[in-house]
Amino acid sequence: MRTPLIAGNWKMHGSRAGIGRLLTDIRAQIDPNGRAELLVVPPFPYLDLVASQLDGVPVAFGAQDVSAHAEGAYTGEVSAAMLADCGCTHVLVGHSERRTLHGESDESVAAKFMAAQAAGLCPVLCVGETLAERDQDRTEEVVQRQVGRVLKEAGIAAFSRAVVAYEPVWAIGTGRTASPVQAQAVHAVIRAQLQAEDATIGGQVRILYGGSVKPDNAAEILAREDIDGGLIGGASLQADSFMAIYRAANQVC
Ligand code: PGA
Repeated sequence: MRTPLIAGNWKMHGSRAGIGRLLTDIRAQIDPNGRAELLVVPPFPYLDLVASQLDGVPVAFGAQDVSAHAEGAYTGEVSAAMLADCGCTHVLVGHSERRTLHGESDESVAAKFMAAQAAGLCPVLCVGETLAERDQDRTEEVVQRQVGRVLKEAGIAAFSRAVVAYEPVWAIGTGRTASPVQAQAVHAVIRAQLQAEDATIGGQVRILYGGSVKPDNAAEILAREDIDGGLIGGASLQADSFMAIYRAANQVC
């Protein structure tokens, strides 16, 4: 049985004061008997603040991006070792906003995935099709290509220390969610692709859904067989909505 994971991607939002309040409110709503794990993903400058606020609290934290390089003259970049040094356990790689706004290719995403693992971090590999690709019936091909590139470079064994997040680009921040049936279908495709390489690893890898998950649609999405949690953007910025999704995961996963 896969343990559900509810991850909050705060993107470029927040302040020291706001994040302090958010974490206080999240902490107050943790269910000691809940099965779901929690992960928060703040902007880089707040990692230390989050680390100190979550000391001894069962909430993991990670970063939104990482350099593919280990160290050197890469102004503005942050290495995986630095993230691990700050206490991060996870890092997002290949979020669609990085792919579309910052031109990240499948190849650079694979390099970041491997850099993260080399430093002991668990990469959260984000994949998903655009609306045009879905309309052209290319969803399967696109996610299989995105996952396939990482498989080719890192190998299936690497997926025993990784999480996959399926986030249809047209559902991110738009209020438009994939239906539970649409999401489950793509999750099953991704799982089958990984299981074809190794049945055990493919069966155990957690595949999160992301894209306008809210308290009122979380339960029906999270109840699907191959959906093992959520990557939550907008709704993770308020403790009440984020933790309502967490409670839904505890109930249905
Ligand atoms: P959203 O973002 O929940 O605001 O759609 C999800 C994400 O980008 O991870």
